[in-house]
Amino acid sequence: MALNWIDVTSEADLAPGEFEVLELDECVLALFNLDGMYYAIEDICTHDNEELTGGPIDGDQIICPRHGARFCIRTGKALTAPAYEPVATFPTRVHNGMIQVQVDTD
Ligand code: FES
Repeated sequence: MALNWIDVTSEADLAPGEFEVLELDECVLALFNLDGMYYAIEDICTHDNEELTGGPIDGDQIICPRHGARFCIRTGKALTAPAYEPVATFPTRVHNGMIQVQVDTD
């Protein structure tokens, strides 16, 4: 296992309230700017393995567009049925104006 920080986008390109979908080697992440803090979650609903992005965002929650499960963007926790398992989360940081996400690159 090799955890590495990957540049994903510049801070200037992700305003508060926006998100970006990132296709990395083995997974698809959604990177959110919530009031100037950055959060990355896997863009896969744990109910039926469909994309979460495209669903409404309500504060720090994203609502699955298929069956309406809510997830906390900050923690990945599943908040409402029909999802019960959390989505994976990934550490983020800012380095020289670039938002970076820590992923396993092995
Ligand atoms: S696929 Fe997300 S709630 Fe069913």
